Amino acid sequence: MGFKVAIVGATGNVGREMLNILEERGFPADEIVPLASRRSVGTEVSYGDKTLKVKALDNYDFSDTDICLMSAGGSVSKEWSPKIGKQGCVVIDNSSAWRYDQDVPLIVPEVNPDAISLYTRKNIIANPNCSTAQMVVALKPLHDAARIKRVVVSTYQSVSGAGKEAMDELWAQTKGKYVPGQEVEPKKFPKQIAFNCIPQIDVFMEDGYTKEEWKMLAETKKILDPKIKVTATCVRVPVFVGHSEAVNVEFERQMTVAEARSILREAPGVMVVDKREPGGYVTPVEAAGEFATYVSRIREDATVDNGLVMWIVSDNLLKGAALNTVQIAETLVNRKLLRKAA
Ligand SMILES: NC(=O)c1ccc[n+]([C@@H]2O[C@H](COP(=O)([O-])OP(=O)(O)OC[C@H]3O[C@@H](n4cnc5c(N)ncnc54)[C@H](OP(=O)(O)O)[C@@H]3O)[C@@H](O)[C@H]2O)c1
Repeated sequence: MGFKVAIVGATGNVGREMLNILEERGFPADEIVPLASRRSVGTEVSYGDKTLKVKALDNYDFSDTDICLMSAGGSVSKEWSPKIGKQGCVVIDNSSAWRYDQDVPLIVPEVNPDAISLYTRKNIIANPNCSTAQMVVALKPLHDAARIKRVVVSTYQSVSGAGKEAMDELWAQTKGKYVPGQEVEPKKFPKQIAFNCIPQIDVFMEDGYTKEEWKMLAETKKILDPKIKVTATCVRVPVFVGHSEAVNVEFERQMTVAEARSILREAPGVMVVDKREPGGYVTPVEAAGEFATYVSRIREDATVDNGLVMWIVSDNLLKGAALNTVQIAETLVNRKLLRKAA
């Protein structure tokens, strides 16, 4: 017998990818229930060759649902995840609402799968921020080999990371630049995103960093190692799907480029594409739609002891969100941690 799975936010960017991935990877589901806001009741979403009708989250009874994949933002999750968890259904949440709660495991299955057992405290498991997820997948095997002391990361994040309205804004603003009278003012973003880069993702904190930058620091520590120092600059770029990161890493001992390449070639979830010639690296356009996290441009950073620089690219809607969520659900099933609901 398979499981009953609910998807909250099934009409969104991430929710639709979750439906695709559950079907594509053959997740043992007997029933899939797509949920969203009241606005979307009756909307149709695809699950393999089936079409499912969306129901409203309001008043949905989760007592016979085994897993809820939650992808409807922080405030919906704050309100609903504890209620759903109390009904005996395990929530895997995509928002930042629970990531820093010490009773909630924050999981990237390639990195810290053993931490998952903590989920019984609240019946909630958190999925990390998209930029953190792809970075820790690449850093984990290198950390195991040579202990990472410090990471300096600059991100180039696509607009899909801000939801479907953000994608619409980039599209409309880009077209509007060419059609007189159809200019589109910034609404989702603090400045024009078309043909531009915006060095602000999420709100500003007191120390001048943004919340997105703070998330990368806090989540890397929680998932990988609290001793690693991280400083980040997160930038929104006019790319639809796929986040890129330039990452400088300092190790405790020397790590040569050749050693890093050979470790990363064996690492789960990682693909090394690193030819030192024009086009011998991966860009977001190629990473979109792929499950892998790509590492390119691996080279020595001679300005520090034991330093390497690399370029890490992944599909933010997949490894950064929907794929990681489904992998967490698979981990629960494979480790026989999931009990069938009544
Ligand atoms: N995109 C990424 O790269 C990424 C990565 C990691 C994490 N996340 C997180 O994943 C979540 C969803 O992101 P997204 O990009 O899929 O956003 P999105 O495209 O804007 O979709 C939002 C979804 O949430 C639903 N929703 C909104 N308010 C609701 C309510 N009151 N009750 C029930 N459902 C409600 C929407 O339903 P309606 O269509 O009915 O409004 C829609 O299905 C966010 O928490 C985001 O931070 C996203």
